[in-house]
Amino acid sequence: MTCLVLRFKHIVRTTNIITVLILTAVLAIPAVAADTIKLSVDASRSGPKIDRNIFGQFAEHLGHGIYEGIWVGPDSKIPNTRGIRNDVVQALKAIKVPNVRWPGGCFADEYHWRKGIGPANQRAVTLNPNWGGVTEPNTFGTNEFMDFIDQIGSQAYVSVNVGSGTPQEAAEWLEYMTADPQTTLGKERAANGHPAPYLVPYLGIGNESWDCGGNMSPEYYLSQMKIYSRFVRNYNPAQQKGDQQMLKIAVGPGGDGPRWTDWTETIMKAYSQHTWSWDINGLSMHNYTVIKWPPAYVATGFGELEYAQILQKTLEMDSLINKHAAIMDAYDPDKKVALVVDEWGAWYAKTPGSHEGFLVQQNSQRDAVLAALNLNIFARHAERVRMANIAQMVNVLQAMILTDNEKMLLTPTYHVFKMYLPFQDATFVPVSFDAGTYKFGEVTLPRVDAIAAKDINGKLWLAITNLDPNQPVDINASIAGINAKSLTGETLTAPKVDSINTFDAPNTIVPKPISTKAQNGSLILQVPPKSVTVVAVE
Ligand code: AHR
Repeated sequence: MTCLVLRFKHIVRTTNIITVLILTAVLAIPAVAADTIKLSVDASRSGPKIDRNIFGQFAEHLGHGIYEGIWVGPDSKIPNTRGIRNDVVQALKAIKVPNVRWPGGCFADEYHWRKGIGPANQRAVTLNPNWGGVTEPNTFGTNEFMDFIDQIGSQAYVSVNVGSGTPQEAAEWLEYMTADPQTTLGKERAANGHPAPYLVPYLGIGNESWDCGGNMSPEYYLSQMKIYSRFVRNYNPAQQKGDQQMLKIAVGPGGDGPRWTDWTETIMKAYSQHTWSWDINGLSMHNYTVIKWPPAYVATGFGELEYAQILQKTLEMDSLINKHAAIMDAYDPDKKVALVVDEWGAWYAKTPGSHEGFLVQQNSQRDAVLAALNLNIFARHAERVRMANIAQMVNVLQAMILTDNEKMLLTPTYHVFKMYLPFQDATFVPVSFDAGTYKFGEVTLPRVDAIAAKDINGKLWLAITNLDPNQPVDINASIAGINAKSLTGETLTAPKVDSINTFDAPNTIVPKPISTKAQNGSLILQVPPKSVTVVAVE
């Protein structure tokens, strides 16, 4: 590109016709040659709602996810509001995070909520054996989490401790959070600074109970889950009816294969026979994009092969959802129970030199493409997948935000979440296109992916991902049902597949404007290689 610019300047300085001809030849080099992909949308057709909750986040007490990433304490020199860092809050507000899952992950099944309430200097210091064995100061507890949720304008998805807790402990936690101050626990919350009951719209009954959450068989978990579902009540007067009622999410599968289909089958079969005394509204599914275990693929400093392999792996999300959704359909044809993909994202080898167990990894343009592909898969399964939580929000795994003391950067994944804002609660519109193919070595991938939706104001949007890391693609969009005159929006690409934003160069990967106007009845938009593009149809 620099080379093209230099040549162009040279030509402008001369009026030599031969040089102009050279420019023409230079601009025609393959780097800008694009194949055309036809994409058709009928704006008058509509599908299910793309629930805004598929853009949910996950914040676990893990590494610098909470401490430093969100919580710096009121005495920190990092600007904060009641201990919560302002820069992170501002960035998260801008992506309208619909819900935050907390306090874990594996941490949740060893979390005892009472240690995280009351005067900060009297809180117990415990250990975090799951994640590096570090001390857990418990200074970020229930009230701080709820304050954080409030500051970013989000909603709480609280995971209760099934593995090492009791139904009574979980029930009391919910009473502490949601009861009016007439009960002793409600009074205690009021004394801790929050007289009004908190909203707890989503309740996770355990986490990975088949592994770090207690190594349970599906039958054993089911018996526990029924008890928690029955007794862990939400008392908030505003949450007693209709849409406001707390949704209970059971632990679901963690992968592909008979072990996992058996798990889904056990829970869903029981659900189909459940009586008035227990209920669930969601089944969780965890699926990371990871090749080999422990993760061997690196987050940056990789080549085209690893780019292609990771994207191939991530596309398996679709078949996994299909498998588990088919079992759910058999027992719940009305799709009352949502499939909640509450842990997803890329899991790479830890950043060299980072703390063991802190799951620190950089975030590259490959992750932006990966995020868009998964969001598109969730949108296509909108009827069943009504919630998802990328792992994790700050400083852990495929994060939105990385911090280093007072410094903060927004990752390419953050930018994808921001670009996809129009898809929150939008109405899915079917789109047809021949995806073409992109091949590298043994890996064959679709060249292009796309979804369309009408936002809450009725405007039509397209999200187009060009997986090909080398060639741009001309999208020839044919839009029926409206008189489309232009496509206008943003595109996110990068110099290389493993380009990243760093604290010294935080704007290497940022969205850039992109648009096209209809000409002779055609709307043709050239999307760059390895890019994510979101445009409004106007
Ligand atoms: O996100 C990191 C960990 O991955 C979570 O704590 C756990 O649920 C999963 O195995």
